[in-house]
Amino acid sequence: MSIPISRRDLIAATAISYQRILGANNRIQMGFIGVGNRGDQVHDGFLEHGDSVTTAVCDLRDDYMDFAVKKSRATPTKFKDYHKLLASKDVDAVAIATPDHWHALMMIDACNAGKDVYVEKPLSLTVWEGRKMVEAAERTKRVTQVGIHRRSGKFLKEAVDFVQGGGLGKVTVAKGFHVQNEWPNGLGKAPDGPPPSEAEWDQWLGPAPKVPYNRNRTYYNFRWFYNYSGGQITNFGVHYMDMMRWLLGKESPRAVTAMGGTYAIHDGREIPDTCEVLWDFDDVLMVFSQYNANGATPTGKPAEMEIRGTKGTMYLNGTSWEVVPEKYTETLFGARTPLDRVTEKSYNPSKKATIQPKLVKGSADTAFHARNFLDCVKSRAKCNCDILTGHISTSNTLIANIALKTKSHLQWDGKAEKFTNNEAANKWLQYKYRAPYKLG
Ligand SMILES: NC(=O)c1ccc[n+]([C@@H]2O[C@H](COP(=O)([O-])OP(=O)(O)OC[C@H]3O[C@@H](n4cnc5c(N)ncnc54)[C@H](O)[C@@H]3O)[C@@H](O)[C@H]2O)c1
Repeated sequence: MSIPISRRDLIAATAISYQRILGANNRIQMGFIGVGNRGDQVHDGFLEHGDSVTTAVCDLRDDYMDFAVKKSRATPTKFKDYHKLLASKDVDAVAIATPDHWHALMMIDACNAGKDVYVEKPLSLTVWEGRKMVEAAERTKRVTQVGIHRRSGKFLKEAVDFVQGGGLGKVTVAKGFHVQNEWPNGLGKAPDGPPPSEAEWDQWLGPAPKVPYNRNRTYYNFRWFYNYSGGQITNFGVHYMDMMRWLLGKESPRAVTAMGGTYAIHDGREIPDTCEVLWDFDDVLMVFSQYNANGATPTGKPAEMEIRGTKGTMYLNGTSWEVVPEKYTETLFGARTPLDRVTEKSYNPSKKATIQPKLVKGSADTAFHARNFLDCVKSRAKCNCDILTGHISTSNTLIANIALKTKSHLQWDGKAEKFTNNEAANKWLQYKYRAPYKLG
C-alpha cells in the first residue's frame, strides 16, 4: 500500500535535495537567528572554528545584527524575517537563540527548509512543541544540537564515567541550585505603553498572546513571564536536570511536585523567586532549588549540583567537579547500648571509606558544543545533545512548572508524555498559538 506524500513532506524533500554534500574539508555556512545575549555567545563559539563561516544573520534589531556582521569573517546577509534566511541557498545550518516561545516554529521551519539546526535551551515552551520538534528532525533527517552545552565538556563526561562506574556507590539524591538575590527591586516596575515599533513587537510576540507592550517582557527579561519562558526552572534548571540525568543514566521521572512563589520580589513577574521541585526517578530523588538569597549555595561549595551516594558526594559546576568521600564515624550508629560500644571498638572507619577525594577541573565552553555540531553536520552522526536528549530534559522541567501551577503531585508517563492522575494538568502540555501561527 502506498503512503500518500503530504505537501509538507514534498517541500522538505525538495529543500533537502538542494543541500550541498559536505565533506570533512568543507566550511559550514551558518545562519544565526537571534543574535542578542545568547545568540552573540553562540556566534562567538562558532567563530572559534575556521570551518564555520557566518553567511547570514537574522534579528529584529539592526544594532544587534550590525554587531554580529562586524565580528564575522565573511560579510553575512542581514534578514529581519527568518523565513528569508531559511530560503537562502548560502545557509547549510542555523543556530537559533531567540526567546523560548519562538524555538519550535523556527526549528521546524528550518528542518523543512533542509537546514541542520543548533537550537538553544530550553528546547520548547511546552512538551507538545518539543515532541513536534523531535518528529520534524526525524522526518527530515536533520542533524540537531540543543544548546545544553555541558554535554560537550570532556571533564563532565569523566564525571559521568566516574558516577556510572560506581564511584559514589548508590546515588539516592541529586540536587541542582539556582541561588540569586534579586532583592529589593528585581526587574523594577515598568508601565505598559506604546512599543518602539508596533510591527517589531508583533513579530517578537509571534505565537504568544497579544498583550500591551512592556519593556520588562522583552529583551532578556522575557524569562520572568510564562508566555515566553518557563522561568528559572527551565532556564537554569534544564542545564542541571540534563546533567543529573546524564550522570545517573535516567530519562523521565515517574512523579513530580513543586512548591514556591514570589515571596521577596514584587515587580510584576509571573515566575516564582523561590521554589523547590522534587522529581521521583524510582530509586533516586532529583531536586531543583531556587532561592532569592545571597550567592553561596546551600552546599557551602561553589557548586551548581550535588550528587549524594553511599560512598561519597560529588559537587559540580561549569568548571570543576569534586568528590568528597563519605566519613564513617561512630555517630552513624545513632542510639547505642553499652554492648554496641564494645563491638564498635573493632570498627575501622578507614576500611569503610573506599573512595579517594578527587578534584577535576575543565571547561564546558560553548565552542566545544559548536565543534561537535560542525563535526556532526559533516559526518551526519548524532550530536552530544541531540533533539531527543534536549526534549526529555526540557520536558522534565516543563512538567515541574505544571506541578507548581496546579499545586499537584503529578504521576508522569514519560513514554506517552501524559500525566496519569490529573486530567486538568494535561491541558498545560500545549497551548493555543495566536493566529495565524501554526506548528508545521
Ligand atoms: N545555553 C545557555 O547557557 C543559554 C544562556 C542564555 C540564554 N540561553 C537561551 O537563549 C535564548 C535567548 O535568550 P537571550 O538571553 O539571548 O535573549 P535576548 O532577548 O537577549 O535575545 C533574543 C534575540 O532574539 C531576537 N528575536 C526575537 N524574536 C525574533 C524573531 N521573531 N525573529 C528574529 N529574531 C527575534 C531578539 O531581537 C533578540 O535579539 C533563550 O531561549 C535562552 O534560554 C541559553
